[in-house]
Amino acid sequence: MIDFEELKNSDSAVYESIKKEINRQKQTIELIASENFVSIPVLQTMGTWLTNKYSEGYPHRRYYGGNDFIDISEDLAIERAKKLFDAEHANVQPHAGSQANMEVYFALLNLKDKILGMDLAHGGHLTHGSPVSFSGKFYNFTHYGLEKETGILNMDEVRKIALKEKPKLILAGYSAYPRNIDFKEFREIADEVDAYLLADVAHFAGMIAARKHQMPFPHCDVVTTTTHKTLRGPRGALILSMEEDRLKEKYHPDEKRNLVRMIDFAVFPGMQGGPMDHIIAAKAVAFGEALKPEFKKYIEQVLKNAKALAERLMDHGFKLISDGTDNHLLLVDLTNKKVTGKEAETDLDKAGITCNKNMIPFDPRKPWDPSGIRLGTPALTTRGFKESDMKEIADLMNKIVSNINNEKIIKEVRKKVKEMCDQHPLYPEIELK
Ligand SMILES: Cc1ncc(COP(=O)(O)O)c(C=O)c1O
Repeated sequence: MIDFEELKNSDSAVYESIKKEINRQKQTIELIASENFVSIPVLQTMGTWLTNKYSEGYPHRRYYGGNDFIDISEDLAIERAKKLFDAEHANVQPHAGSQANMEVYFALLNLKDKILGMDLAHGGHLTHGSPVSFSGKFYNFTHYGLEKETGILNMDEVRKIALKEKPKLILAGYSAYPRNIDFKEFREIADEVDAYLLADVAHFAGMIAARKHQMPFPHCDVVTTTTHKTLRGPRGALILSMEEDRLKEKYHPDEKRNLVRMIDFAVFPGMQGGPMDHIIAAKAVAFGEALKPEFKKYIEQVLKNAKALAERLMDHGFKLISDGTDNHLLLVDLTNKKVTGKEAETDLDKAGITCNKNMIPFDPRKPWDPSGIRLGTPALTTRGFKESDMKEIADLMNKIVSNINNEKIIKEVRKKVKEMCDQHPLYPEIELK
């Protein structure tokens, strides 16, 4: 049993908020596609004294003394990350996925250079050119989208836009796209226009690590990912690359540094100061877990669960963007259910089923009350939920969405949710009173 008595006695206000949050996590069905539950070893590593250290620089090249032992865990994180992604270089210091993308743009591009990425309403992330993010303010973004009829990427369209726009960097990888991505085809397009190819695999990194998705290397120049989604690590990110800079002659002819050095230099001192050594060590632990055969089985179950949830929802008449899923997430178009994304999110939340409202491609509604919801299976799979549970969850969701604002139904579903959560206990070794 993990003991929090010291915290409880020294700061009861923060302790109370932590207690309420862990109890919420234990008692709800977590369907947010970008969330997961870390293992106890990852959790323990995040709470260590490594947080006390300043380690600006990289292993064996630091600006501060006393880093011999910090170097050990960062070296381990780097070696394990390279293995997981078949990469030649890994920078494990980025504090978050948004910073990782910022750092890659900073490494390879000049301000106002052109980037081609996915339209945000079709699944792109804020850092893929939203006008409210640094990305849209500092770089000149142009976008491709999904095909209206199929909800799937049309690579001929991507090629057409790339040939017209001639971007310096093409981005593949999204926040709400339920299908696999063909990096090889993206590479061919990038080569036609002499662009760098960046894969942002924040969402499906776990599938790549488990070899259940086409590997981004050798097709991509650089890969960014968060470490806290399907990879099931601590909150943070990672930049992976090959050694070779295919476009050095065109874009960096006077640049003495190579691709790897440019990325490392953009992370520190370009965009960040001291790395979070406790988080980097926890990344090493999570990557170690992801290299084990059990992780492959976990990802296989994530995929089976997503398919089971998708099929049962479609049986209930829910429309899924692209009519299904290849990965861990589903994008549900609620327009035929006469319910908005916000209404569905609110009532599901009251019933203990947590998900997020989401724009759907060609959405006539606005981001704060869009037409869809996004669902994902990584967190529930970590708790041991299987296909039969997914079917039951789809039935419960259907009940809520078909009876919006019905407190009696919400109460009934809440009771069932509690039973399901009790059958799959989360962190049984942690009981905060
Ligand atoms: C595709 C993609 N890239 C980047 C990010 C940003 O990650 P973070 O929230 O760690 O900044 C996300 C987060 O959801 C994402 O989905």
